[in-house]
Amino acid sequence: MGGIICVGTQWGDEGKGKVTDLLADEMHMVVRYQGGNNAGHTVVVDGSVFKLHLIPSGILYSHITSVIGDGVVVDPSVLIKEIEGLNKQDVNTDNLVISANCHMIMPYHRELDKLREIKLGKYRIGTTGRGIGPAYGDKAARIGIRTQDLFDKAILSQKIEQALIEKNEVLEKIYEQKPITAKAIVEEYQGYADKLKGKVVDTSKLINNALDKDKKVFFEGAQGTMLDLDHGTYPYVTSSSPVAGGACAGAGVGPTRIERVIGVTKAYTTRVGEGPLPTEQDNEIGDILAEKGAEVGTTTGRNRRCGWFDAIVVKRSAQVNYLTDIFLTKLDVLSAFEKIRVATSYKYLDVIYDDFPPNQTIFNKAEPIYEEFMGWKEDISNIKNFEDLPKEAREYVSRLEDLVKVPITMLSVGPSRDQTIVRK
Ligand code: GDP
Ligand code: IMO
Ligand code: MG
Repeated sequence: MGGIICVGTQWGDEGKGKVTDLLADEMHMVVRYQGGNNAGHTVVVDGSVFKLHLIPSGILYSHITSVIGDGVVVDPSVLIKEIEGLNKQDVNTDNLVISANCHMIMPYHRELDKLREIKLGKYRIGTTGRGIGPAYGDKAARIGIRTQDLFDKAILSQKIEQALIEKNEVLEKIYEQKPITAKAIVEEYQGYADKLKGKVVDTSKLINNALDKDKKVFFEGAQGTMLDLDHGTYPYVTSSSPVAGGACAGAGVGPTRIERVIGVTKAYTTRVGEGPLPTEQDNEIGDILAEKGAEVGTTTGRNRRCGWFDAIVVKRSAQVNYLTDIFLTKLDVLSAFEKIRVATSYKYLDVIYDDFPPNQTIFNKAEPIYEEFMGWKEDISNIKNFEDLPKEAREYVSRLEDLVKVPITMLSVGPSRDQTIVRK
């Protein structure tokens, strides 16, 4: 035991970075287990704002070892820039380690990600364009290049040359692009090898050793359950497994190591990119949520699509992650409304769905059925105790607990650490 997993329960950007910050004092290690620099976590610590993409939020605390686990895809150019950026902000990155098994994002992955989206046209996924899908694709196809390969020049050159045989045909014949030569990439990546030397290790062993000594290890999810490759709104998903189960595979630990699974849930719903969003409010309500919640993507700067809380989605997340508790974020944003809505079921072809529909056709076309709540229309961003929240806000939280059947143990009413209510 000793493992705590933190997962997003919606479509990402729930405020996961804030949970790490909140629990950091008791943690020994923080591990990213999937995704790559498609993630964007904004963390506010002592008034300073940090934007993290690839490096676990634990990096902001000197007593924590930050681990980029086996299941993460690493773009070394981004990683090195992020390390340098943090160092400039006086954050020490000596305690950062990277799994030798991480697959690397290569320049052709970034290029193919963008070209594929253009080719898909109106069918595009709306990816972050960071090469995530192509890198995981190569991993599954067993033609990927891993961080450990950086330290064997012969293997690195051979693997890049081998990968380029097929990639260049695709680039030239399908996308009418110029072929890529191996030499420049090999040189570029060897430069990264020099910078990352000593940091690329067997992280599974390290994590298991820490757990053996009863140290607390925090597994920090990126993205969210609805973006999970298996459990999300496929094909409008990312290419990894953000769900709690993904933490074990992506970090190399057994499931019985885990004692708690915290779901991070926004008090309403947002999504970036394409794909269904049943409770979307493409109207003034959505505009207010976006404005009050500052709903602009940390990674791509795209506006997030906004809508009411979807209990069907979070109930589903509670199930697939088997959440022990929920951290409810951005409750303060709902202070803007006279009336607040929550989708409690869907309707499609005269059938009512109280649970997540069995297929995406229904999910895409379902009409949400809402329950309406009175708003509280007052500033709650400085409230420290649950009992001091307006009655309407407490009722909203209690109803969400009833609907998703998971206790809400922590609530966030603003971006900074002290704007958090921990329930007794
Ligand atoms: P993540 O990807 O899940 O880590 O979330 P992001 O960092 O992408 O997006 C969450 C944003 O909301 C960040 O800018 C946070 O600083 C901010 N935030 C977190 N909790 C709250 C809150 O309770 N209220 C408000 N207004 N902002 C919050
Ligand atoms: P954090 O960790 C929100 C979305 C993209 C796109 C889809 C696939 O900040 O919560 P990809 O580049 O992964 O192939 O894009 O997934 N997406 C995210 N949306 N938050 C994220 O991360 C996301 N990471 C990917 O917008 O719809
Ligand atoms: Mg984010």
